[in-house]
Amino acid sequence: MTTTVKHRASVLVVDDDKAFHVATSAVLNDEGYTVKAVTSAHEAIDELRQRTYDIVLSDLVMEKMDGLQLLEHIQTHYPETPALMITGFGSIETAVKAMKSGAFDYLSKPCNNDELRIKVRRALDHQRNRRALSTLQEEVNKLYTFHNIKSRNKKMRDIFELVKKVAETDVTVLIRGETGTGKELIAKAIHFNSPRRDKLFTTVNCSAIPEQLFESELFGYVKGAFTGADRDRKGRAEETDSGTLFLDEIGYIPYSSQTKLLRFLQDKSFDRVGGTETITSDVRIIAATNQPLEEMIADGAFREDVFYRLNIFPITLPPLRERLEDIPLLAEHFIEKYGTSFGKHVQQISSSVISSMMNYSWKGNIRELENIIKRAIIKAEGECITDIDLPENDVHTGAGSPPDIATAIENNIAFKDYMKSISVDAEMKYLITALKAHRGNINRIARMMGVDRKTIYRKLSEYSIDIDRFRS
Ligand SMILES: Nc1ncnc2c1ncn2[C@@H]1O[C@H](COP(=O)(O)OP(=O)(O)OP(=O)(O)O)[C@@H](O)[C@H]1O
Ligand SMILES: [Mg+2]
Repeated sequence: MTTTVKHRASVLVVDDDKAFHVATSAVLNDEGYTVKAVTSAHEAIDELRQRTYDIVLSDLVMEKMDGLQLLEHIQTHYPETPALMITGFGSIETAVKAMKSGAFDYLSKPCNNDELRIKVRRALDHQRNRRALSTLQEEVNKLYTFHNIKSRNKKMRDIFELVKKVAETDVTVLIRGETGTGKELIAKAIHFNSPRRDKLFTTVNCSAIPEQLFESELFGYVKGAFTGADRDRKGRAEETDSGTLFLDEIGYIPYSSQTKLLRFLQDKSFDRVGGTETITSDVRIIAATNQPLEEMIADGAFREDVFYRLNIFPITLPPLRERLEDIPLLAEHFIEKYGTSFGKHVQQISSSVISSMMNYSWKGNIRELENIIKRAIIKAEGECITDIDLPENDVHTGAGSPPDIATAIENNIAFKDYMKSISVDAEMKYLITALKAHRGNINRIARMMGVDRKTIYRKLSEYSIDIDRFRS
């Protein structure tokens, strides 16, 4: 026979009045708690050293060492244990002091049983919440340790070293890189490895907020600032005080809001929309973009001064096709992550799949690889991902075929990048077909393509085309 042992919450009662011990113990035992009663703060300290208590219920006025001193000891050594202080006649001022120094709540003596039950339960709930929160916090912290960001690539390893160093500081970071290269992951790694890790990490996706709402979203507004503003509201910048604000897709920030952003970047100060009071918020700023900001500056779409304020510590993540050595590593990582999801038991990937993957263009970068692995796991029959689990016309065909429109959209590939991938693909196919038709005659092909011989040689090496194959 098995029995389930349910954890009984434990309460330490500290009071030099033995009658109080008896009365409270009876009520708390009835509630299912384990109660230990001691008569002095010193005994309480001994007791806390020996075992863990979920809450402490202590009188404020005791001989030798009083409740306030005990409270201080608890706060220093057991900051997660809530303390409920009992105030007798004449100790109201001390009770105020106790609350100000962090006591969870107080009870007045003589105690009302219902009040005792309610307050103890509330303290226990609070304590459970705090424990759950700190476990969750630990889980999140673990998620963004560098251990979970995979790369063997030298450039990436150097970036990790830089990221570790910059995480310690409050410096503004600008993360650049194609879609799906891991910009958000790096932003989170910076926050969760920084001294701000226990504070908020807030993402503002600048491309998702309508232009006219941008400033109120970021900086908040005051009542009456516009129709519908029926009360004051904090913006993300203010809510994230002492945390990290991640301005994703910063290239989409409306031009009209850039002056206000500049001031914010300079001294972290701003006014709420419609407000006159200057507000300062202690936030660390990380921004990300896959847009060519320098070109946007030249076109007058992005302010140069904002760019310089953002570009203090730039990090550029290389695309996946420039770190092919990461493909097997990431594929394994995603198999480990999702292999037992969807009711499957996938543990491996065939080497032929890996080799097709090495020849693919990965316009959607790591996100695309992640999606392809997920889909392959769903399709896989056994423990291993094989060629037939790969999407048709995609990785299969290898050699840099662009994704179809649906895949491009699913992987967040911008129209401009999509067009570029199509033209690169068309150029490569044209080149190969012309090489076949003219048996590798470079002069002829250069003329047909309207470029010089040197350009053709450059393209051959760019696309890893071996010209000798066509010359026999
Ligand atoms: N080095 C890595 N190791 C493991 N997972 C990674 C790595 N880089 C990226 N990923 C994963 O790939 C996916 C895409 O990454 P992320 O969202 O950070 O990219 P992004 O650059 O912000 O893309 P976008 O520009 O489209 O917003 C995420 O699921 C992320 O966890
Ligand atoms: Mg992103």
